[in-house]
Amino acid sequence: APPAVLSGFSDQPLVIAHRGGRGLWPENSLFAFERASSLDVDMLEMDLRLSRDGELVVIHDKTVDRTTNGNGPVADLDLAELQALDAGYRWSADGGESFPYRGQGVRIPTFAEVLERFPEQPKALEIKVPDVGMEERLCDLLTAHGQRDKVIVASFYDRTLQRFRESCPDVATAAGPGSVRLLVALDWIGLGRTLSPSYQVLQIPPSHGDLRVASPSLLRTAHERGLNVQLWTINEQPEMRQLLDMGAHGLITDYPDRALQLLGRS
Ligand code: G3P
Ligand code: CA
Repeated sequence: APPAVLSGFSDQPLVIAHRGGRGLWPENSLFAFERASSLDVDMLEMDLRLSRDGELVVIHDKTVDRTTNGNGPVADLDLAELQALDAGYRWSADGGESFPYRGQGVRIPTFAEVLERFPEQPKALEIKVPDVGMEERLCDLLTAHGQRDKVIVASFYDRTLQRFRESCPDVATAAGPGSVRLLVALDWIGLGRTLSPSYQVLQIPPSHGDLRVASPSLLRTAHERGLNVQLWTINEQPEMRQLLDMGAHGLITDYPDRALQLLGRS
């Protein structure tokens, strides 16, 4: 059976707004999530870190420098300091000619704010820090908001993911990098089907350096194992088309409008 978060969907490929659709509006903001939701995307993707005072906040980079008017590591700033920053400050659609979201009140949200504002919206969460304790805080928040069946949890930290699965065993998770490498290797030697994975979702890039990750064979193997395969970060329609034809179940994209258009949903 598919994990609960995916059970409401038909066979239509999922359109997943990467950081809320960062090509269209300031990434990882309530504003972006609001707009992506009203486009009727299937899922919001977002990145989780911890503030100095231990709050889960939604921001991609290790520092606030690229996306806000502040500077310094997220982990060195308290929540109040993070939320005083302008998270729309650096967003530009024209390579820095104009900054339409400066001074518009866009800020870094806490994860709790996202849970409160979008209780029904499925979400793809990425744990960006390996800090011990992060995974339990996340599990507690999902439990407190009754949203364990509304999320997929991913991370580039295999051990963090493993600890998260122990805290929150019924929550859908994506394969960590070690598991993806194993699946790719087993697939190469024809043993992919012997795997019994601890994850339900495969979130992979089409390629990693010179390595082709999303081969037709890997997608077939993943299908046979009942995995939901989601590709990142796919921004051009020809590549979207090609990956859907290969059997991708979901597209994680900065431009959810393009994916929805391709699928005849806009
Ligand atoms: O969902 C996977 C994708 O989000 C990873 O890339 O750097 O945008 O978090 P990144
Ligand atoms: Ca991410």
